[in-house]
Amino acid sequence: MVDQDACSSVGVEPPALSVLRWDGSPEGPAVVLLDQTRLPSQEAELVCADVPALVQAIRTLAVRGAPLLGIAGGYGVALAAARGEDVARAAELLAGARPTAVNLGYGARRVESAYLAAVRKGADRGAAAEAALAEARALHKEDAVASARMARYGLELLAELLPGGAHRLLTHCNTGALVSGGEGTAFAVALEAHRGGSLRQLWVDETRPLLQGARLTAYEAARNGLPFSVLTDSAAGSLFAAGEVDAVLIGADRIAADGAVANKVGSYPLAVLAKYHHVPFIVVAPVSTVDLLTPDGASIIVEQRSASEVTEFTYPGAGQAGPEGAAAGTGTRPAQAYNPAFDVTPPELVTAIVTEEGVISPVTGAGLAELCARSSQV
Ligand code: MRU
Repeated sequence: MVDQDACSSVGVEPPALSVLRWDGSPEGPAVVLLDQTRLPSQEAELVCADVPALVQAIRTLAVRGAPLLGIAGGYGVALAAARGEDVARAAELLAGARPTAVNLGYGARRVESAYLAAVRKGADRGAAAEAALAEARALHKEDAVASARMARYGLELLAELLPGGAHRLLTHCNTGALVSGGEGTAFAVALEAHRGGSLRQLWVDETRPLLQGARLTAYEAARNGLPFSVLTDSAAGSLFAAGEVDAVLIGADRIAADGAVANKVGSYPLAVLAKYHHVPFIVVAPVSTVDLLTPDGASIIVEQRSASEVTEFTYPGAGQAGPEGAAAGTGTRPAQAYNPAFDVTPPELVTAIVTEEGVISPVTGAGLAELCARSSQV
C-alpha cells in the first residue's frame, strides 16, 4: 500500500516503481512485470517465462506505453536467446504484438541485431544471448536518461510559453514511470514542474475505455504528491471553456515523418480544443518514437481493439454499459463498438514536440529529420 500522507508534500520522494525487470536467477530466465491491469488496487508482479507469455502481457496491456513496450520487446528477444529459441521468430512475434507504438518493433529489432552481430563475430549461443541481454539493458538505461532530459527540456519550454508559473496542465492516458525506464515522458515534465514548485494543478483525463488516466496516472500522481483531479474525457471541453487549462501535455506512440502524432484515442479532440482556446498542445516523446519511414498520419496503423472493452464496461451497482443484447455474449446480436486504441493529431495542431535531443516548434518534417540525424550521431 502507498502511504499517501508520506508522499503528499514536495521533496518527499516515493520509492521508485519496479515496472519491468530481468530475472536471471537459476529458476529464470524471465521478464518480470508490474501487472498494470491490476493497478491501482493491487501491485502484483507478472512473471513472463517465455515469449508467448510476454506477447500475451503486451496484448492485454499488463505492460504498455510506447517506451516501455520498446524495453519489453528488447528483453523479450533476450529471453528467447537465453532459452536457446529462434530469435528472429521471437523478434517478429514481439514486434507484431501491437501495431501502433513504433518503439515495440524498435526494441525487439535492436536486440535481435545485437544478437546477430555477436553470432556473426563467432560468438556461441550463450555469448550471443549475453550480448542480447546487454543490449536490452542498454536500451532500458537509455530510456531513463532520455526521460530525465525530456523532463528538463519540457520544463524549460513551459517556462518560456507560460512565464507566470502556477501551471494548470491537462494530460491524457498514462505517461509516467509506468511506461518508462525512468520517470516517463509527458508525466515526467509535470513531475519536474511539481518539484520546481510551478505546478498548480494536473488535470487527468480518465481515458476511456481502459482508464489509463483514472487508474494509472492518478496512481502515479498520488504517489508523488502532485495536486491533481481526474475528469471524464468529455468534461475537457468545459474545462477549457472555463479557462482552467494552461497547456496540454501528452506522449506519443508513433510520430510520422511529417510530424503527425499517434497517441491514445482522445488526444486529437484535445488538440482541436487546445487550438480553439489558444492553449499550447505539447507532445513529449523520445526520438525512438519518431518513425521517418511512415510518411504521414494517414499511413499510421491504428490498433482496433475488442468491442467488449467498450460494451462490457460496468458501473458499480448498475451492470454493464451496453444496451441489453449488445454486449458480447449476452444477446442474439453480435457486440458492436468502434474502439480504436489511438488517434492521429496533424502536425499543425501540435505546438511543440519535446524529445531528449531538444524541442522542435513549429513541428515540421525537416525539423524532425534533423533531430533524428542528431540523435543517430550521438
Ligand atoms: O494503449 P496504451 O496504454 O499502451 O497507450 C499508451 C499511450 O497512448 C501513451 O500515451 C503513449 O504510449 C505515450 S507513453 C510515453
